[in-house]
This record gives sequence, structure tokens and C-alpha cells, in this order.
Amino acid sequence: MTPIRMLCTLPFVLLAASLPAQAQSGQQLYNTYCAGCHGPAGNNKNGVLGGKDWAIIYQAMNVKPDMTAELRPLYDAQIITDATFMSIAGYLATFSGGATSQLSMPSAFAFGTQTVGVGSSVQAKNVSSIGNAAVQISSVSNSNPAEFSIVSSTCTAGAFVNPLSSCSISVQFTPLVAGARSGTITIASNGLGSPQTIAMSGTGQTGGPPPSPGSLSMAGSLAFGSSAVGVQSSGSVLTVTNNGGGAVTVNGIATNPAAEFPITGLTCASVAPGASCTITVAFRPQAAGARSGTLTITDTGTGSPHTVSLSGTGIGGGGPPANKVLAIEYFHEGIGHYFLTAQADEQNGLDSGVFAGWARTGNSFYVYDAPGGSAQTIYRLYTVKFASKAAHFYTGNVVERDGIRTENGGDWTYEKIAYYIPAAIGGTCPAGAVSVYRMFNNGQTGAPNHRFTTSYATYLDFTTNRNWSGEGVVFCAPQ
Ligand code: HEC
Repeated sequence: MTPIRMLCTLPFVLLAASLPAQAQSGQQLYNTYCAGCHGPAGNNKNGVLGGKDWAIIYQAMNVKPDMTAELRPLYDAQIITDATFMSIAGYLATFSGGATSQLSMPSAFAFGTQTVGVGSSVQAKNVSSIGNAAVQISSVSNSNPAEFSIVSSTCTAGAFVNPLSSCSISVQFTPLVAGARSGTITIASNGLGSPQTIAMSGTGQTGGPPPSPGSLSMAGSLAFGSSAVGVQSSGSVLTVTNNGGGAVTVNGIATNPAAEFPITGLTCASVAPGASCTITVAFRPQAAGARSGTLTITDTGTGSPHTVSLSGTGIGGGGPPANKVLAIEYFHEGIGHYFLTAQADEQNGLDSGVFAGWARTGNSFYVYDAPGGSAQTIYRLYTVKFASKAAHFYTGNVVERDGIRTENGGDWTYEKIAYYIPAAIGGTCPAGAVSVYRMFNNGQTGAPNHRFTTSYATYLDFTTNRNWSGEGVVFCAPQ
């Protein structure tokens, strides 16, 4: 066989790839290896935008027969590599769609009866994000702004709703005519299921004197006595009575901190004049010593919101007390990778040059070195797949931890419990804790690398200027 004849039998993709794959941009690589079947990336044909996570492309190559036939031989011949997929994933990440997260809408705004032309009390509701990526809101519209006015909102076009986080919308109802009134807020985003809606309703009333308003009353404080740290007491009952002339609808009951004062029972919904209902609150101290919190009740009666102070004493603790230690970030100029550790032995090795080439970046945050109270465990994984490029990963999410070990071809290993951090409560970091953001280098170094930081400025800089992917808030750090 002559060399010329051999060339003629090669598939066209191999000719197109005569440049080293990595020298081409993600877009060029996409056009060479993917566009033939998937067409323009923006069309998301066959869910190609799911490949903004490069591991999904690798997996699709192994399990989708069409892709296996075309790509596996090139991969085995090392004409395309994981770095090719990472580069393509970086390109796919520039498109909206292919989303893995979605917004979670609150229940409807229900305002009850309201005199025509008179503004109601303002109701606030939260829109949160479900999934492991931030969702960006693209537009917010209101079908009836004249009667249901959005008086304040952080859910605005362009805003990101991070995992474990939420935005909030406050609405006031001012009926313009009598009878049933309604409206809809529509939120479009790059999340699954967009656009999504929140219904708003109320009834306008004219003629006759306005009904005399209802008014709830209750004790101003609830004391719990002593309880062992981490152990939940039986609940204390707070009685709420409507002393006014009209029915009152209770539309919000919350404690803060919620983990320390959980609500364990509730009979309050619509409270008729003269009637009573109860709220049961338990005490589960998170630390020894005097503990305090608040219970807030929002309702349609006068004097809303009401605040009840909560107090108790935590005893003992059990187990070793946790120390606050610094997780310190290092950077290796040679391989372009970041590494984070809270272990003194590793920090000493990195500082003294036993592990050569690493220098502190100045970025650090606190973690706990022992479990305690409601602390969450953070796990460390590593892979030797990229040889000298130390690739470590931290997660507090057990599903993610176990997923990473199987989804990337089994080359990640669970290494150890790395440290402990204060667990998020109801999706937000508790008082005294700050958000830890995670970002991904999109494989720009030829290997995966993540940074974890409490600096939103750093996060913004890397994700807008340096082609890193933002992965949102992944856990909390004590201050
Ligand atoms: C030979 C045609 C072909 C080529 C080349 C090809 N794909 Fe696909 N791909 C498909 C088909 C067909 C499906 C849908 C299969 C199914 O769901 O049954 C698919 C599915 C996918 C999915 C969705 C996987 C999932 O789990 O839903 C992703 C992501 C993807 N391809 C990425 C890529 C990327 C990136 C490239 C280029 C490196 C590529 N594909 C090259 C045919 C191809």
C-alpha cells in the first residue's frame, strides 16, 4: 500500500485534526468533532448543551452508540482527549440552555379582601434555586401591575440565584374595582421549566364601612430552660388569639435561627374573631451557654409582623470541642493549579518546599477541625489521572461525592474527611457564617482544577475575565 492510498482511507475528521487538538479553540473543536451530528450548538440538538459538563461528553461517548462509533476510535488513538472535551465544554458553557438547575416558585400571593383604592399590607415571597448551578433570571413581567404592584424585588432581570440561595419579591394589593382580582408574575430564566409563574389574587370591596380589622395577640417571649447541646427538647406551646373584629390570615411563621428553635406544631391558618390557635416551638441548642432567637409571625391583622423572643441554655457538648482552623489556598506557577488545605502537616510541607513550587495566594477561610452541633462534613477526593497535576476536589454533598467517583470513569478516589463547616439552614448560611463559592478552570490547564473562595470579587473576576465557570455557593464557612 502506498502512503497516498492510506491517507485516502482516513476519515475526514482525522485530516481536520492534523493540528494538535489543544491548539484549537473550543468552538473549532466543536465544529470539527460535534457539529456534523449536533448542528449549531445553540440549537441544543440531542441535548448537546448538557456537555457544558465535560464528564457528560465523555460519558455520552461511551454510552451513545452513534458517538461511540465515531469518537471512541479517535479517543483511543489519543487524537481527542479529555482536554478536547473540556475545551468543548467551555465553549458550550457560553450558551444558555442545557440547564441542570431550576428556580423553585413560592406559593401564590393571596391577599384576601381589601377596600377598593386602599393598599394592603405588603407580602414577601422567596424564589430559590434547586440544583448545583446558579440560575440567571432573564426577565420578570407582571400581568396586572396596577393592582398588584411589585414594591421591591431582588428577583430582577440579570440576577443570579445561587444554589442554597434565593431572591425575594414583595407585592402590595390595591384593588381598583370590586370583586375577584388576579394577576400573574412570570419569571423567565436559563433554568429548567422556564418561564415559571407566581399567581396573585385578592378581592376588592366597596360600600359600607370597612370591616373592623382583626388583631392577633400572644406572649412576648418563650423560655425553654436547659437542654443538652444537639438534643431537641419537647416543644413549648404559644397560644395566639384574635382580639379584633375581623378574621386574620396567618401567612408566615418563621424562627431564627431555625435549626436551634424548630417549629414542631402549628394550628394557625385563618383565625376567626375571638378564636385562638397554637404554634409549638422546640429547642435544640447548637452550642453550650445562653442561646436566643426570635419567632416572627406575619398576618393580615393590625400590628403584623409580631415578634416573640426565644431563649434557653445549652449544656455540655459531648465529643471534642471543635477548633476553628484556617483552610489556606496555594498556587503552583508551573502547573497553573490551585490547592486548598486545612491540615497543618500539608501547610508545613507546602510552605517549606517539601512539596515544591507552591506559594500561598493570600486566600483563606475558617473551617472546623472536629464535628459538633449541626456541623456538616466536607469530603476530599483526588485523582492521579493527570499525573503531576494534583487534582483534588472538596464537597459536602454525599450524592456529588459518590457521583464523581463513578461518573468520570472511576478515576477519582474518596480520600478523607477534610474538615467540618456550619451547615446551611433552609438554604442559607447561618448567622456568623459566610458563603464559599466554587469555580472550575474549564480544564484550561489540561486537567480539572477548582477554587474555593469566600471572596465574591475573586469569584467574579475569574468567572467573567478568566474563562472559569462559576459553580455558585457550595458550602458555608465560620467567620
Ligand atoms: C455521529 C454523530 C454524533 C457525533 C459526532 C457526536 N454526537 Fe453527541 N450525540 C449524538 C446522538 C445521536 C445523541 C443522542 C443519543 C440519544 O440520546 O439516544 C448524542 C448525545 C449527546 C449528548 C447528550 C448526552 C446525554 O446524556 O443526554 C451530549 C452532551 C453530546 N452528544 C455531546 C457531543 C459532543 C460534545 C460531541 C463532539 C465531541 C458529540 N456529541 C459528537 C450523536 C453524535
